[in-house]
Order: sequence, then C-alpha cells, then structure tokens
Amino acid sequence: MRLPWELLVLQSFMLCLADDYTLHGPVFIQEPSHVMFPLNSEEKKVKLNCEVKGNPKPHIRWKLNGTDIDIGVDFRYRVVEGSLLINNPNKTQDAGTYQCIATNSFGTIVSREAKLQFAYLENFKTRTRSTVSVRQGQGMVLLCGPPAHSGGKL
Ligand SMILES: *[C@@H]1O[C@H](CO)[C@@H](O)[C@H](O)[C@H]1NC(C)=O
Ligand SMILES: *[C@@H]1O[C@H](CO)[C@@H](O)[C@H](O)[C@H]1NC(C)=O
Repeated sequence: MRLPWELLVLQSFMLCLADDYTLHGPVFIQEPSHVMFPLNSEEKKVKLNCEVKGNPKPHIRWKLNGTDIDIGVDFRYRVVEGSLLINNPNKTQDAGTYQCIATNSFGTIVSREAKLQFAYLENFKTRTRSTVSVRQGQGMVLLCGPPAHSGGKL
C-alpha cells in the first residue's frame, strides 16, 4: 500500500523534473544578503550567496559597486555554483555593494544589492550611536557585548 506522502513526494519530484526540462529564463532560488565581515574574525573568507535555476543553465556574473568583477583576474575570487567566494577579504578592495547577474538565452535577471561591510562588533549597533555617550572608564552595557576598538569608520 502506498502512503499519501509518498505520492506527494513522487508528484513534486515529477513536477521538479518537468520544470528542469522546460526551457525558461533564469529564476533566483537564493539571492545574496548583506554580510558583515568581522575584522577580527578567524575565518578568512566570505561567501555571497546566489543560486539560480534556468534552462539553458544560466551564466552567472557578479558586480561590485556596479562594475563587473573579472573573476579570472583576481585569484582571491571564485564562483561556486553561482555563489561568490572571496578569499582573504580586504576592506579596501572588497567593501561595497554586490549584485549577482544571471543570463541565459531567455533573458537576464539582476539580484538585490547585498552590502559587504567590514567592522568590529560595535558597528552592529544602529547608526544613531551618537546619542550614546560614555566617559572613558565608565561602565556600559550593550546587548551585543562591549564595543571593541575600531581602526576607522566605514
Ligand atoms: C588591502 O588592499 C590594499 C590595497 O591593495 C593594501 O594596501 C592593503 O595592504 C591590503 N590589506 C591587507 C590586510 O591585505
Ligand atoms: C564601493 O562603494 C562604497 C560606497 O561608495 C565605497 O565605500 C567602497 O570603497 C567602494 N568599493 C570599492 C571596491 O570601490
């Protein structure tokens, strides 16, 4: 006897197959989100997600601040299944707004903008931090922990 959920699984599997065989323009499965890269992190890479389906298989490009990233030129960059991996991210070179662009013969789609920022924990606070004033040596409680020293503003 076949259980109903098995039928459901089979059905969605077949829908999925049908979808894969139908020619269609690129569609985002996952778009990049803002990334805050902690300057003091152990992790030496950043991943900006982008996952696209389409038939024919879409070609994926990335833009940084509106300019195409030439993946081949900088060895720190890699595109894996559409997602952008940056090794040894560097604030000077990599901070900015990223977009993923997917193209096939049916058209082109452009993802939302995802900001890559470099910061110490204190930058997780809202931008209206100026309302908080603390004298040196005075105790202060922040929900995300005490602010660390920061080398400069973004
Ligand atoms: C980041 O890139 C800039 C410009 O290329 C360079 O001067 C700086 O040394 C780099 N910083 C690190 C930590 O690699
Ligand atoms: C991208 O633009 C932002 C905002 O204008 C700027 O701070 C950043 O340095 C730019 N990034 C690059 C790599 O040019």
